Amino acid sequence: MSTLKISDGVVKDEVLVLGLTSTNSKGGIAIEAGDMAIDTKTILSQLVDMGATGKADEVTKLPGSHVRLMVFTGLGKKSNSYSHETLRRAAGSASRALAGNSAATFSLPAKSLAEVAAVAEGAALGAYTFTEFRGSTKDDHKAPLKTITVHSKLASSSEAKASVVRAAIIAKYTYLVRDLINTPPSHLTPDSFTKKLAAVVKSAGGAKSGLKIQIWDEKQLKSQGFGGIIGVGQGSANPPRLLHISYTPKGKAAKRYAFVGKGITFDTGGLALKPALGMEAMKSDMSGAAAVSAAVIAIAELKLNVAIESWAPLAENMPSDTATRPSDIITIFGGKTVEVLNPDAEGRLVLADGLMKAQSSKNKLDGIIDVATLTGAQVVALGTRTSAVMTNNQEFSDDFLAVAAKCGEQFWPMPLPEELRASLDSPVADLANIGDRMGGMLVAGLFLKDFVNPELPWLHLDIAGPAYNEAKPHGYTPVGGTGIALRSLVTLAEQA
Ligand code: BES
Ligand code: MN
Ligand code: ZN
Repeated sequence: MSTLKISDGVVKDEVLVLGLTSTNSKGGIAIEAGDMAIDTKTILSQLVDMGATGKADEVTKLPGSHVRLMVFTGLGKKSNSYSHETLRRAAGSASRALAGNSAATFSLPAKSLAEVAAVAEGAALGAYTFTEFRGSTKDDHKAPLKTITVHSKLASSSEAKASVVRAAIIAKYTYLVRDLINTPPSHLTPDSFTKKLAAVVKSAGGAKSGLKIQIWDEKQLKSQGFGGIIGVGQGSANPPRLLHISYTPKGKAAKRYAFVGKGITFDTGGLALKPALGMEAMKSDMSGAAAVSAAVIAIAELKLNVAIESWAPLAENMPSDTATRPSDIITIFGGKTVEVLNPDAEGRLVLADGLMKAQSSKNKLDGIIDVATLTGAQVVALGTRTSAVMTNNQEFSDDFLAVAAKCGEQFWPMPLPEELRASLDSPVADLANIGDRMGGMLVAGLFLKDFVNPELPWLHLDIAGPAYNEAKPHGYTPVGGTGIALRSLVTLAEQA
């Protein structure tokens, strides 16, 4: 990972990143150099010659005189104050475009502490690559920026230094989520997922940092009644797991939250086999588990004053002679029975076990949040960049949406219409795992609602589209795993 710094001194790096905006509809542009004094006259005419417009995601490079390279990153329309997300994305686009360089100084229009933090975060998030599995082509891929320096007058304040440390922690754990998602199922099984996370917990300080980890294997899951996780995982040669990471702060915790993340290391659809076209994207079906597991460790590293219990039910959904058949009935942890009409609606089965287990702990929870790549219907409804929030508690949802907006993660509220619940009734079990096809995202949410105490504030985050970017990279978002939900979860804990 790149090193993040903040400085108000003279630029020592060979690369300088500045902002570029559009001032009118006739192609006018202006440089936004933040706290740095720049003689812009000749540069502006060169930028015009280069066709630079200042629009978002546009990066223009010019050879410099004091520095080797000047990089202009688009901020869109000129403004007196740019949104944090505009700054984050502009910084991210620039650092993405700077792979192959070793160090760059970012001087963007960031006056406040929060704006400086946004630049640091965006720059760090954009400097990601995933080359672990490249062999002979590894050298063809440029290494990401090694050192990122944010230029700001606030550099000497302790708050500014702290916000850079925070940005580095956010980036480190977002990278972890992305790495887990990008790792193929040949190399990421339920068991290896737990081992990787155990190593990360250890390197974050383990018990010294208030972190505890517990892992259930398939024998324990079976004997203790986790019928959802077993039912989904039983078709695979890679047996299922349940991963629990908890963080207890030093003092009295302001709040206690449980996070539950869907951890399907590969979703073939099981006996309801998915079509081959696009199935490869189902290596991302553990994005929720990765986000909640990384979030609790990030929260511990930030020493936040909240207690967090993360739960990751992990299984590989495979078709085989031992796989769950359509019409099989399974018993979820706690005793509710489910008729599995479609083994491709597997996420809700492992989540039901996870939600029930999370609520069975002695410690009283203030809220529970599940995170899942749950339905194709989510992508149909909201597209690939906006995730859905469903809830049993308007206030909790409103708080979360405000937090998500603040950290630049796009979430949108969705209803849980009671009339759709009847479609989940089963003639033979307590409920079926599929209902009406129309409104499939909401039906999945209603299924989960059956496994949540109505008194406990609950959020269901369906991140099916935004978890995995199959299109072009943009802003600080690379192709592949994005790391969505991590920043919102951590920021929610910060505001508790
Ligand atoms: N993992 C998929 C949902 C998904 C689809 C995630 C596209 C990311 C991108 C989930 O397990 C699934 O297969 N859902 C089914 C449910 C249906 C059978 C009720 C779906 O959405 O088609
Ligand atoms: Mn599925
Ligand atoms: Zn799935």
